Amino acid sequence: MNWPTLIAHRGASAIAPENTFAAFELVNKACTTWIECDVTLSKDNKAIIFHDKTLKRQFGINKKINQLTIAEISSLDAGLWFDKKFQDEPIPTLEKLLVWAKKNKISLNLEIKANGYRLKKLIEVLKELIIKIKFPLNQLLLSSFEIKALKYAKILLPAIKRGLLMHRWRRRWKFVCKNLEVSSVHCHYKLLNLERVKKIKHQGYQLYAYTINHEQLAEQLFTKGVDGVFSDRIDLFKASK
Ligand code: G3P
Ligand code: MG
Repeated sequence: MNWPTLIAHRGASAIAPENTFAAFELVNKACTTWIECDVTLSKDNKAIIFHDKTLKRQFGINKKINQLTIAEISSLDAGLWFDKKFQDEPIPTLEKLLVWAKKNKISLNLEIKANGYRLKKLIEVLKELIIKIKFPLNQLLLSSFEIKALKYAKILLPAIKRGLLMHRWRRRWKFVCKNLEVSSVHCHYKLLNLERVKKIKHQGYQLYAYTINHEQLAEQLFTKGVDGVFSDRIDLFKASK
């Protein structure tokens, strides 16, 4: 695995609608070849790329994404809320993303966000697609805030590296990481004081911080010993690959 120092968070999401091909295609390979995106299931078990639990923020609709079929999801415009020039941008399916990333030699950090809906099924669908597309396993990293997601990933996709996400500090992080056999820890940057960085690195894990949209903050984190950052503003990190 070629661990990056920069991962494009939901694609180049500062300049294009997050988690769409518009944002993925704008990822400048000179900066990074890694993209993070969020994966969830449609009501009829198709894996799609979408961040929120509901359609409220982007579409003003009070419905859960997992309650919609793939046909309903395909009719949504994921670009218009961001800017009119991105009108008609669809919510990508995971299948299309994997095909595109393989062709373009892009590595993916797939963040599993089941939203309480068919978690095991989501990992099974993911496995089927990876096999079908023959996606290079060393270009994949699975992460989740949900321990159960990483457990299923460990059982069903043992050869793919896993990362534990933390938005709040877990006192038992060492135990959890060891049990799940993760390779990396992905933390909200505010959790990362020098002592914690040192402890995580001492255990031999790759350490990533999100979401870093200021150069100075990135420098501070790298100085502490963080290995890489997630950013919506990959333009800030020219040729940091
Ligand atoms: O994977 C890093 C980061 O994306 C986690 O938080 O809410 O942006 O998915 P969120
Ligand atoms: Mg995410």
